Amino acid sequence: MRVSASVLLLAIAILAGCQTQKGSISKKEQAFQPGSIWNDNNGEVINAHGGGILYINKTYYWYGEKRGKSASEGVAVYSSKDLYRWKNEGIALAKSNDPNSEIAVGGLVERPKVIYNAKTKKYVMWFHLELPNKGYSAARAGVAISDKATGPFVYLKSFRPNGHMSRDMTLYVDDDATAYHIYSARENYDLRITKLTDDYLSATTEDTLLFSSHREAPAVFKKDGLYYLITSGCTGWAPNKASLHTATSLFGPWKLVEDPMNGPLAEKTFNGQSTYILPIAGKKDAFVFMADKWNPKDLKDSRYLWLPIQFKDGKPLITWQDSWKLDSFNQ
Ligand code: DGJ
Repeated sequence: MRVSASVLLLAIAILAGCQTQKGSISKKEQAFQPGSIWNDNNGEVINAHGGGILYINKTYYWYGEKRGKSASEGVAVYSSKDLYRWKNEGIALAKSNDPNSEIAVGGLVERPKVIYNAKTKKYVMWFHLELPNKGYSAARAGVAISDKATGPFVYLKSFRPNGHMSRDMTLYVDDDATAYHIYSARENYDLRITKLTDDYLSATTEDTLLFSSHREAPAVFKKDGLYYLITSGCTGWAPNKASLHTATSLFGPWKLVEDPMNGPLAEKTFNGQSTYILPIAGKKDAFVFMADKWNPKDLKDSRYLWLPIQFKDGKPLITWQDSWKLDSFNQ
């Protein structure tokens, strides 16, 4: 009797362990813990840095840089229905072993963002591309395409939009399905915007300077007709103070408002750097600020800082929380 009870206990313990490893945590346990290790459904650390999220067919797809200790290993993609549990969907965009390819091993693919084009039924990925063994000098925008959200994406081309250098970047699709590329240009001194062509594959000549404040890591959202743009300063992998701009048109003028970060280390964006702002599907005015806490000594060990955006007196406020749940948007 005693033996079978301990066997039963052991079985329960093993099962519980497996469940945590597989990410099948109970509803009660589900929470975001910014800066802690986040595992996928296989119990492996999620490797998707400088990323962004596409919500389509009731599924969130998280695309991000797959990094080694320092190497750029392509774009990883994970999927989730609830934003807590993530399934590893493999490599969305692989680096090429052909040394003549622009995305050959030895170059950099950073800050990938994916949008869906309903007219062409294609998934389109843009990213910051650096050519092999040339450091950050190429400063180009790369474009890849896929029939499926999980890829594989096929690399199409790279260019400097309208001749401008293009490093840190994001994509934004407006309510009318027009898409935009927001990017750091002129050695990161300028932040610019380009309207994309209808197929989302190229930059049009509608390309405007937003401001020249030496900013990078742009992340955009829109609420009540007002656009909000969070950026970081330019200090490599080291954290710095975020800033928030608002505008009634994406092409500006953009007005600088206070840094929305609040709490310990707010002046260093909680040791992180913006990458994307995610609107929560089905919840009005619910946005998640996504940032990377970079570890330049081991980039794959960089951590994810996701925090809810609250609004106080109509202004966005991002308050540090050790742990939080999506329910907090209902309160
Ligand atoms: C800051 C950028 O935001 C990152 O994406 C990366 O390019 C680092 N600089 C490299 O130092």
